[in-house]
Amino acid sequence: MASILKAVSHSEEETLRLAEKISLFFKKGDVVILTGELGAGKTIFVKGIARGLGIDTALVNSPSYTIVNEYRGGSKSLFHFDLYRLGNISELYETGWDDYMQKDGIMVVEWGEKGEVNLPIPRYQVSFKILDDTEREINITVIKND
Ligand SMILES: Nc1ncnc2c1ncn2[C@@H]1O[C@H](COP(=O)(O)OP(=O)(O)OP(=O)(O)O)[C@@H](O)[C@H]1O
Ligand SMILES: [Mg+2]
Repeated sequence: MASILKAVSHSEEETLRLAEKISLFFKKGDVVILTGELGAGKTIFVKGIARGLGIDTALVNSPSYTIVNEYRGGSKSLFHFDLYRLGNISELYETGWDDYMQKDGIMVVEWGEKGEVNLPIPRYQVSFKILDDTEREINITVIKND
């Protein structure tokens, strides 16, 4: 697991800006897992990615009940998964996960560790740690086989 970036964000806006910059680095077909406790900033980070791609951030909401939201109209499509309410892995495949993998978009997955055994390699992982009310430690790594 190679570290790409480790930073402390001091505000929601700082997390948005960090994600906005990182979004330019992600390519179509990339899978980005977001891990960290409730309220850690995962959805805020997805909003930042959307902003970087030129997608209306108001469209970005946790797809807890629907498992996946699709956002288009930016420089790349963004497929936003949230596995928090996932009962078992077959529900993920029912969303059309394999089809999404073949589409031309960036896949971001909140609570991605819930489906970890079935997630592709290589993939990126963005881990969030709550330090206090406004501070979050953000650690971006790439998970690959070698
Ligand atoms: N530095 C920061 N970065 C991101 N969010 C922050 C920061 N400081 C405070 N916050 C607040 O923390 C909350 C993060 O909410 P968000 O919905 O992104 O969490 P989440 O990790 O997606 O939670 P869930 O697991 O419920 O989906 C927001 O209310 C945001 O304003
Ligand atoms: Mg969320």
